[in-house]
Amino acid sequence: MVAQNACDMGVDAYFVGGMVRDILMGIEIKDIDILIEGSAIDFVQKLSECAPNVMIKSVHKAFNTAKTVINGLEIDFASTREEIYPQSGCLPVIQKTGCPVCCDLKRRDFTVNAIAVRFFTGKNELKYELIDPFNGSDDIKARSLRVLHNKSYIDDPTRILRGLDFKLRFGFNFSENDKKLIEEHLKSPDREGLSIDRIKLTLKKLFSDKNAKKAYNQILENNFYKIWCDIPSFKHEWAQRLDEASSIFNVLKEEIFLKAIFENELYSDFLIQNHTENFEIYNQYKNLKPLDLALHYAIFNDANVIFYFQKLKDIKLDISGDDLIQQGFSQGKALGDELSRLLKEKLNSIERN
Ligand code: CTP
Repeated sequence: MVAQNACDMGVDAYFVGGMVRDILMGIEIKDIDILIEGSAIDFVQKLSECAPNVMIKSVHKAFNTAKTVINGLEIDFASTREEIYPQSGCLPVIQKTGCPVCCDLKRRDFTVNAIAVRFFTGKNELKYELIDPFNGSDDIKARSLRVLHNKSYIDDPTRILRGLDFKLRFGFNFSENDKKLIEEHLKSPDREGLSIDRIKLTLKKLFSDKNAKKAYNQILENNFYKIWCDIPSFKHEWAQRLDEASSIFNVLKEEIFLKAIFENELYSDFLIQNHTENFEIYNQYKNLKPLDLALHYAIFNDANVIFYFQKLKDIKLDISGDDLIQQGFSQGKALGDELSRLLKEKLNSIERN
């Protein structure tokens, strides 16, 4: 239907990006991305006019992209575009949309992601044509990560982190030239226009995978933190506990690893108090959210915080203030003190085992 519509409208449509890479690698695809050599918004609007099973979920006019659901499948449409990076690490600025597909492929990160597959109808059957101007399919076979030009990591240093993601997920390796380019960039990174939000978004994706701990360690070992800072304030020794913390405290891996990297300084003045009484442990942690408890555990290797989370945090009194009033207490400090005494008694009776 999409191919027929493209044919009727006289525009070319392509599968592109990670989807094509994954198909060529023979692995399951995650998303369906279609590139329109023209206007993606015009395209999906016409498509939805003639096909009731096409639902447009949203459009993004500045990028000329659209999110759709077709026969229950989520499909993203983008217009071919050319981009420039006015400063290292900033968000790219679109120069032109609707350009030839090869110009669009040229703006991408690695050769393995710069492959498109044109699909079209011919003699009542669907046909495909591979557009691979940078020999990305050979690099897929060789599991090699090559950027398309020598300024690529300067333009977009998140590509270093994306490369690490592909390395850990699929066993890709940076080519020798890429290793040199990365090393060069990390020697004197220009961070003036760096979009830290983009870095965080890329790291979030990297840490959402089962390889989060490896990624964290490699960011330290390979000096990839230099993309955004000179000296890392996060430590190697936290890695194992950060990994464990996500299941102990039921928090998302990407959130705990990101917090460890960017918000650890909040904890630098924290005084570890070796409380032994449950009631004191409870009071120390009762205002912290699970993510803060998890980070606290990872940074300080503090067993009390696990005990609090697993055994103390949900302890409640079976009796309320109203019950005490009925027993003869009057409202005020004495009532508060009694409730607190009862809670302390209950908490202190919990065994650590
Ligand atoms: N892309 C890029 N530079 C970036 C981010 C993305 O060139 N900093 C391009 C790549 O061509 C990439 C495509 O946009 O293939 C889609 O990006 P994304 O969805 O983030 O990743 P995928 O490559 O599709 O990989 P996956 O979803 O499997 O992580």
